[in-house]
Amino acid sequence: MIMVTGATGQLASLTLHELSARGVPALAGTRTPIDGQRLLDFDDPASLDLTGVSTLVLVSAGYAEDDQVIARHAALLGAAARDGVTHVVYTSLTGAGDHLGFALAHRATEDLVRGSGLDWTILRNGLYAELFGGLLTWGPDVLESPFGDGALAAVARADLAAVAAVVAAQPSAHAGATYELVGRPITVGEVAERLDVPYRSLGLGEYRARLLADPSLLPFQPPMLLSIASSVRHRFLSGSSEDLTRLLDRPPADALAVAARAASAGRPLAAPRGPLGA
Ligand SMILES: NC(=O)c1ccc[n+]([C@@H]2O[C@H](COP(=O)([O-])OP(=O)(O)OC[C@H]3O[C@@H](n4cnc5c(N)ncnc54)[C@H](OP(=O)(O)O)[C@@H]3O)[C@@H](O)[C@H]2O)c1
Repeated sequence: MIMVTGATGQLASLTLHELSARGVPALAGTRTPIDGQRLLDFDDPASLDLTGVSTLVLVSAGYAEDDQVIARHAALLGAAARDGVTHVVYTSLTGAGDHLGFALAHRATEDLVRGSGLDWTILRNGLYAELFGGLLTWGPDVLESPFGDGALAAVARADLAAVAAVVAAQPSAHAGATYELVGRPITVGEVAERLDVPYRSLGLGEYRARLLADPSLLPFQPPMLLSIASSVRHRFLSGSSEDLTRLLDRPPADALAVAARAASAGRPLAAPRGPLGA
């Protein structure tokens, strides 16, 4: 049986959907199980029951400091080895992302995966097109961005989920492989053109000040977001690879359209007009 971890998350739920669409049975692991799902909280060792699982799709559980993320992944991999899992598929980060603030936790986990004694496949996911669009902000009718003229080889989350499903369905065909799953490079200028709006470039200092003034961000997030901005701006994340199109069993989504949709979704609604249209 395949198990996909983090079932309420966007990537994991899409992966489960892709497996189901291919007629491949899979079990969902999550901290908040509902019907037929299995409780799985990487922070709670007592919950880590992987009996009956042959292929584990380990969806990274980021959004925390490195020590916590690495401990989570180590605990799950230990349980996998103990409970007889034979193959682990880990959703990692593109190799070009080594300058990003969350790269270390991914590389440390890759080392744990390779040393786990299990068969493994590493999916080095590029940054989501949804993330690229979602990180753009809006001034009055102008798109604002810290990415300068840099390009991101963005990839739709659904395409990464489809590849995870393809690999999990036939893991032995992908044993020992590390795939670079990136899309075609897109820029903020192209997103703005698609939305027919002008865009304004933010310097990294201005962007940092905005992030530090945002009370909704956790302490680790401003440096993490700045590292994304600087890496895109300075063209460290624009390189391409054929792995995504080779592994996908359908054409990839249009990353520019996905990013434009995400940017558009964050656009403030126009102020309601008064009775005289003012
Ligand atoms: N490539 C990119 O652009 C990019 C962007 C953002 C994040 N990521 C990474 O990719 C992962 C999946 O992305 P996403 O878009 O699906 O994020 P998401 O929708 O925010 O999902 C977060 C995931 O983390 C899991 N999680 C958090 N704490 C956990 C714990 N203690 N034990 C087990 N699972 C835990 C959640 O599982 P449950 O709630 O179901 O337990 C959920 O699957 C993220 O967690 C992050 O590591 C990649």
